[in-house]
Amino acid sequence: MIVLGLCGSLRAASYNTAALRAAGKLMPSDMRLEIDTLEEIPAFNGDVLASGFPAPVARLRERIARADGLLFASPEYNYSMSGVLKNAIDWISRPPDQPFHDKPMAIISASMGVLGGVRSQHHLRQSMVFLNGQVLNRPEVIIGQAQNKFDSAGNLVDDATRQIIVEQMAALRAWILRLKAVAPAVAAA
Ligand SMILES: Cc1cc2nc3c(=O)[nH]c(=O)nc-3n(C[C@H](O)[C@H](O)[C@H](O)COP(=O)(O)O)c2cc1C
Repeated sequence: MIVLGLCGSLRAASYNTAALRAAGKLMPSDMRLEIDTLEEIPAFNGDVLASGFPAPVARLRERIARADGLLFASPEYNYSMSGVLKNAIDWISRPPDQPFHDKPMAIISASMGVLGGVRSQHHLRQSMVFLNGQVLNRPEVIIGQAQNKFDSAGNLVDDATRQIIVEQMAALRAWILRLKAVAPAVAAA
């Protein structure tokens, strides 16, 4: 079972990327996390799209389509998801066969503030309502005061956070299996 991890932060020392890596280690043994980067996704431009998806976008769309599930790590910028993540979603979402449709997915977020980026999660969920992404409802993984939960090498050292990630990854596994067992209700846009 392949889960593709996408992070809305491009920082090398990103807490959100560190949280993705931790999730990869805390998954059930029959799941594998592959982390892709949004670094090469250009700024969305409908005129460019008119001549086709740029190569990095086309590659990412294919990778998402092939994955059994997605795991977003979403930093919160100004009470929303980062522009990097929203921009990538805007590209990937264009027809035909937009690959978020019916895709099982989960969200984690980390922030240095006490609310752990939860507002970014809600905006991301809202975009996925339109795109018919199948976002796992719970458990929610919201990592507040991330600077106290990761060590300087980016290892997740907070036991309670590790435990909730273990539980979310088990729930994502069950969610993927449940959705695989039923036919899609509607076709992709
Ligand atoms: C442009 C910008 C806006 C931010 N806005 C918020 C915010 O609304 N809420 C919050 O909790 N943190 C906010 N932060 C702090 C980030 O959550 C924090 O820098 C976090 O570590 C970024 O994620 P990363 O470590 O994965 O790069 C903001 C940071 C930046 C650069």
